[in-house]
Amino acid sequence: MVLSLDTPLDMHLHLRDGEMLEIVAPLSAETFSGALVMPNLVPPVTTAQMVRDYRERIAKAQGAHRFVPYMTLFFRSDYTPEFLEEVRDEILAIKLYPAGITTNSEGGVSGFDLEELAPVLGVMSDLGIPLCVHGETNGFVMDREAEFIPIYERLAQAFPDLKIVMEHITTKEAVAALDRYENLYATITLHHLYITLDDVAGGLLQPHLFCKPIAKRPEDRTALLNVALGAHPKVMFGSDSAPHPREAKEAPGCAAGVFTAPLALQGLAQLFDRHGALANLQAFVSDNARRIYGITPPDKEVVLEKSPWLVPEIYEGTVVPMFAGQSLEWRVVSAK
Ligand code: NCD
Ligand code: ZN
Repeated sequence: MVLSLDTPLDMHLHLRDGEMLEIVAPLSAETFSGALVMPNLVPPVTTAQMVRDYRERIAKAQGAHRFVPYMTLFFRSDYTPEFLEEVRDEILAIKLYPAGITTNSEGGVSGFDLEELAPVLGVMSDLGIPLCVHGETNGFVMDREAEFIPIYERLAQAFPDLKIVMEHITTKEAVAALDRYENLYATITLHHLYITLDDVAGGLLQPHLFCKPIAKRPEDRTALLNVALGAHPKVMFGSDSAPHPREAKEAPGCAAGVFTAPLALQGLAQLFDRHGALANLQAFVSDNARRIYGITPPDKEVVLEKSPWLVPEIYEGTVVPMFAGQSLEWRVVSAK
């Protein structure tokens, strides 16, 4: 059996910098036509020059593959209208992190005072810059996303013309919120469609499945599967592929992030196939994102076939992927 995907997009990707960028950028660029690149570098991407320089480093690292890095800026409440106008053409979205909630988010927002955020959000709304949000409070780890939903609702109500993307949703509460507000959208990762907290910590601890938001309960995964497999028009694939060096994962104080970029399409094909939903994968992995963001990425046809593919144990001796050393039921046969 063969599956052809037209212009796959990854609408939430961590490409990092330096040596890690060199390793991971070609892996995404090979099978994806474009990706929304997260700005949580050290220091975070906060100026037009930083956006331009990072885009150039990505372009160098991605090799000959046809691939567009859609850039993002790290949200700050003190951006001026003039700056936002200047940076508008360099970016596709602005990413808001609560302070300290995940990897390299120390410079994020504390307190969610709508009055403090309003000036920047108002200008973003006027300029048509979507807001991508890491929606977690600093409450109990399993409840953080559900507790954040009222904040999403306040934002969605206060800025009805602002496109708000709930990033990497993991709960049935977030799925339910999608249909309550016209301007709320969501990305869903590969790993949250496969795993629950049991897979992370139910047996021996699996550091390579540890990420933020933490994987949740079976009923949450079911809710995510329903909208992803059903090609809900407001959900997009965003891998949140977040590589860390092996020694940062297999360590006390394990870094959060699952590395999935090189196996994302194979893993999605396996999942959609097992659920008899292959016909909906195109919408989830490309069409919805193109419509929601209004982008026209370069054409790329990726052909997959149903035959076993062994996921590498490690890439460049540095970064361990999800499903390392395991066999997936689908492989990529060509991407052009
Ligand atoms: C991401 C990272 O490592 O940058 N980690 C993660 O667990 N997902 C940051 C993020 O998206 O939360
Ligand atoms: Zn992320």
